[in-house]
Amino acid sequence: MTFVKRSGTQPLLIVAAACVIGVLVAEPASLRVLHDSKPGESVTFNRDIAPIIFHSCSTCHRPGEAAPFSLLTYTDVKQHARQIADVTRSRAMPPWLPEPQELKFADELRLRDAEIDLIARWVEQGAVEGNPQDLPPQPKFVEGWRLGKPDLILTATKPFTLPPQGTDSYWNFIFPVPIQETKWVKAVEIRPGDKRYVHHANILVDREEASRRQEKEPGAGFGGMEIRIESQVFDPDSHLLFWKPGTVPYVEPEGMELRLDKGTDLVLNTHLQPSGKPEVIQPSIGLYFSSHPATKLPMLLQLENDVKLDIPAGEKNFLVTDDFVLPVDVDLMAIYPHAHYLGKDIQAFATLTGGKKETLIHIPQWNLNWQAVYRYAEPVRLPKGTTVSFRYTYDNSDQNPLNPNRPPVRVRGGNRSSDEMCHLWLQMLPVNFDVAKGDPRMALQEALARHNVEKNQGDFEAHYNLGSMLQTRDDLDGAIREYQEAMSLRPEDATANNALGAALVARGNAARATEFLRKAIQLRNDYFDAHYNLAFALAGQDDFAGAAKEFQLALGIRPDDAGAEANLGVALAQLGRFKEAKAHLQRALEIDPEQPVAKENLEALKRETAEH
Ligand code: HEC
Repeated sequence: MTFVKRSGTQPLLIVAAACVIGVLVAEPASLRVLHDSKPGESVTFNRDIAPIIFHSCSTCHRPGEAAPFSLLTYTDVKQHARQIADVTRSRAMPPWLPEPQELKFADELRLRDAEIDLIARWVEQGAVEGNPQDLPPQPKFVEGWRLGKPDLILTATKPFTLPPQGTDSYWNFIFPVPIQETKWVKAVEIRPGDKRYVHHANILVDREEASRRQEKEPGAGFGGMEIRIESQVFDPDSHLLFWKPGTVPYVEPEGMELRLDKGTDLVLNTHLQPSGKPEVIQPSIGLYFSSHPATKLPMLLQLENDVKLDIPAGEKNFLVTDDFVLPVDVDLMAIYPHAHYLGKDIQAFATLTGGKKETLIHIPQWNLNWQAVYRYAEPVRLPKGTTVSFRYTYDNSDQNPLNPNRPPVRVRGGNRSSDEMCHLWLQMLPVNFDVAKGDPRMALQEALARHNVEKNQGDFEAHYNLGSMLQTRDDLDGAIREYQEAMSLRPEDATANNALGAALVARGNAARATEFLRKAIQLRNDYFDAHYNLAFALAGQDDFAGAAKEFQLALGIRPDDAGAEANLGVALAQLGRFKEAKAHLQRALEIDPEQPVAKENLEALKRETAEH
């Protein structure tokens, strides 16, 4: 009888996570008419200033939002007039970090010079109210869910109590998504809790329940600024789901919906600031579903060069760069630069094959507190061969007001808030590709993994990801080589042991695989894949009793896995235990009536038992 493997003991792709998904941005721009008041003519609140404030400030400066006071009436604004003139002149408000550039961002929140001058003149002239008839209506804001009632609302199981004092906190809330079938999400609204204490938040999609392992008790969440999610099979992140004060939920363009499968967790990574008293934070997420599946294949490409971050204390201008050549044509949809507190000048640009250079973003004065995802007003076409580069400089001197260390200390790359980071996330949509030649995102991912391996032989994740890319396109020798490199860097990594074992099984080297798979299980006993793969390795050496035992252990971890049931049935049949075998094959078909291994082997079993 045949022993049919489930298609592929799958490798894992490690996405060096950090923040992300989404696309923020301020309230939809309403038309701003700047009254061309002549020099000498007096500037009034009602006619000249109110339109600017309503458009650019009131979104956040109103009750229930992040800003410390309201800017909705003449009295509100007059009270803070001088301060408003200062913060607009320095461009501290409204918060918008990028310099103006040729490639426009959607919903740019930046005052024009003329507006700043007008505010300054108004204050100089004594902050006059003016004619009530000139006052435009106050902006209307939607209370509650901005896009109306979501199709599904998820609320954190347990609130997190933010300690009254201390430095910023980072807390991750896990939201299991109770759906029974795949859904397509066209918008996500994040309601992070009291906006005065939640500085920003972003969602990561966890398809493997990998984050739950970090919780001390189910539903409690866990701390940490940057998190890392391992995802099985090639399923790269695709969307930037990001919230900061003033964010209006973004509805994805037709065809760009986010896929959400049964069993997925959403992990909300929040940046919290203590208030002086304990604050209870219990965020919710609203999901809006689309009736049709996505047709496009967006992907988040993450450039980084954290290994180069080793910034001496006092260093004012520490430069880190990276240059990556695109292997396919893409449309760049959004960009999200990320550094911690020492980041200063943040730049990214594209150099086209003809030599033309386009600034993708330039932030001359980085501020982690106002980090954001920037979406382009129009997709930016970047043809194959374009070099995407970043140049980040870091200021580790005591002249950097955001430097958390006084006096400064040496700082290296890492995930803690006391470490530094240089990441650039790019939401890209491959275009002009030929599906017959494979998934274009795969080409992007493989090129990136190769780039990272070349840049840094000591990059575990790059070796690992390159291995899984090679394995996906059946280059098993290449995959084994890369997994071995990864393993030499982290011999105690359960994921890498499992992947190497799985690749060796696929290569027909079951005996060698056994060692790594046993090691993976020793490192993580509840590792479903490792038990499953070990079962195959043992079966490959005709140890069907051992295989049956491992399938049983795998089923102890995931009782409803049709593949494990089916293969357990097959292993038992090999041992001549036909009755039990039949029961397991039938159970597999109860779970999944189309389970191919069960279908095929149940037929074979019937024939076999009929003959005897
Ligand atoms: C995206 C949300 C947002 C927008 C838009 C915004 N503010 Fe603010 N503003 C804040 C927050 C939050 C604070 C609290 C201080 C901080 O976190 O930096 C603040 C603080 C301020 C302060 C106090 C600064 C200080 O040093 O204490 C002033 C003045 C101010 N804003 C004016 C404005 C004006 C004027 C505009 C429009 C031109 C504006 N803000 C637009 C969020 C916003």
